[in-house]
Amino acid sequence: MINVADAFSKFRSRLELTNKEQEDASRRHKEIRDYLRTKFDIDRDFLTGSYKRWTKTKPLKDVDILCVLGEKESHRRDEPPADLLKEFEDALVAKYGRSNVSRQRRSVTVDFGVKPNADEDTDGKVMSFDVVPAFNKSKHYEIPDTSNPNGWTETDPEIHYQKAVVAQDNYDRQWKGIVRMAKKWNAHREKPVKPSFLIEVMALELLVPPFGGDFRYELKGLFASLADRIHEAWPDPAGLGPPVSDGMDNTARDTAKQELLSASNAAAVAIQLERTGKNGDALRAWRDLFGPLFPLS
Ligand SMILES: Nc1ncnc2c1ncn2[C@@H]1O[C@H](COP(=O)(O)OP(=O)(O)OP(=O)(O)O)[C@@H](O)[C@H]1O
Ligand SMILES: [Mg+2]
Repeated sequence: MINVADAFSKFRSRLELTNKEQEDASRRHKEIRDYLRTKFDIDRDFLTGSYKRWTKTKPLKDVDILCVLGEKESHRRDEPPADLLKEFEDALVAKYGRSNVSRQRRSVTVDFGVKPNADEDTDGKVMSFDVVPAFNKSKHYEIPDTSNPNGWTETDPEIHYQKAVVAQDNYDRQWKGIVRMAKKWNAHREKPVKPSFLIEVMALELLVPPFGGDFRYELKGLFASLADRIHEAWPDPAGLGPPVSDGMDNTARDTAKQELLSASNAAAVAIQLERTGKNGDALRAWRDLFGPLFPLS
């Protein structure tokens, strides 16, 4: 049987992007790009969000592609943001089918119909993309945001990217791995924390260097401090968009807090089981927290 420390190392590498996944993401990127360029004037487009920052969890879904619109589309900035999303939605429905395309607050999701197996493996396939139309706004971007009263959100993915790079460097290069694990817990628990980007934003402040050297205690501590501060307002780290914490009301935050506290308690129990020589029970306790990607052997 594997020991818990090795199980965590294996878990961490299972949450890394594989070459096959990156190839599939690039193939889908090209396919969507080539198609959308026949429908809209697009200046440039690129993969962004947690995929680009290496903080995405598995199975790989909702890879963000930002499509920066050109001059011919500038009139759309004066029209309602929902109209722009609808135009993108209609275009993508024509290619991928009604049942595979859905509109979100800031993007249009295209589902590729990939189903993970019981081990949450997709054989290197990306499940879905989030297509985000955008306008240039000085050195950053403006994207539709149907939940923001003014209809648009300013965003600077480059600043988010750089902050993650610095955090990773300051944390003995383990910060992203820990963020992916915490996001895996969230996805496995059906997302008590919304959006999951909030976990990454909070981790920028809550994971105080240096790395303690032990994923067990890092995770236990992170769950506890996320619980402790989940009711606070968490601004966009680039200082441009609305608070990242605006996706939950007070009731949702209460629920998230309870879930996070029980995760921290479950981690403490798992650590105790291991200390008393119950390795198999400890592994199963961690798997209950993270799901099938956490190895038992
Ligand atoms: N409130 C906000 N203000 C400004 N930019 C934001 C805000 N929320 C999200 N973003 C940017 O949009 C990107 C995509 O958002 P999304 O919710 O998909 O998060 P994510 O980091 O990609 O996480 P996930 O792994 O859940 O996809 C974020 O990575 C961030 O760069
Ligand atoms: Mg995303």
